[in-house]
Amino acid sequence: MNLKDNNLDHIAIIMDGNGRWAEKKGLERTAGHAAGEESLSKSIHWALSNNLKWLTVYAFSTENWMRSSDEVEFLMFFNRDLLKRRREEFNKLGVRFHFLGDLNDEKIPEENKLLMSETEEMTSSNTKLNLVFAFNYGSYNEIHNGITNFINENKQNVDIDYVNKQFRDYLYIPQMPDPDLLIRTAGEQRLSNFLLYQLSYTELMFFETLWPEFSEKDLNKAVEEFSKRKRTYGKA
Ligand code: IPE
Ligand code: IPE
Ligand code: MG
Repeated sequence: MNLKDNNLDHIAIIMDGNGRWAEKKGLERTAGHAAGEESLSKSIHWALSNNLKWLTVYAFSTENWMRSSDEVEFLMFFNRDLLKRRREEFNKLGVRFHFLGDLNDEKIPEENKLLMSETEEMTSSNTKLNLVFAFNYGSYNEIHNGITNFINENKQNVDIDYVNKQFRDYLYIPQMPDPDLLIRTAGEQRLSNFLLYQLSYTELMFFETLWPEFSEKDLNKAVEEFSKRKRTYGKA
């Protein structure tokens, strides 16, 4: 599958359905998150072998703090544990890690913050694949934060042409291209506060498959379907 010929540089994934996967098996919801690691790993390896340039995954939303404290605590633990165990492997393969979200939030444990900044630094010269972890991410926060910084820095210059041209510089990762394809697993057809600005012209695809059961086969299917879509960007 040649992604370049299809102009497919950036895939974003809403990894959903971990809880339902676990409940179906009579397990705790947290077992579903743990099981999702395999699908994430497969997706990263798939991205590497297909020369994808950007892969963005939604790992924790600004609304996910409303889950039970046990689940939130597990997710914080799991995210740092995953980084500790796997970052070296992906670093060697040329993966550059980025973390997208409100990373200064005091609700995030210090150890997670440290691991994220270390991992970003450690992989900063890698060029094979940009892997973006959306963590404590919400589009409202990203856009409101951007507006605040924009106004503070450009007090004299706020006219619409200037904003149209410069506003992207105030998103969390200005150099991140907009996703070409968004995949959401587990059947819900909504964005859940994910990349509202950046998904304006993205092709959307929804899979019934629960995230822990998602595999390379589904990614290949998504690329196949993407290659049939005609992107017109408002032109006729
Ligand atoms: C997605 O799976 C993972 C996170 C939100 C962290 P869910 O935990 O939302 O799984 P469901 O939607 O309850 O099945
Ligand atoms: C979106 O999934 C967040 C992540 C996958 C991290 P949710 O399961 O939290 O979203 P809703 O509640 O179905 O909208
Ligand atoms: Mg969910």
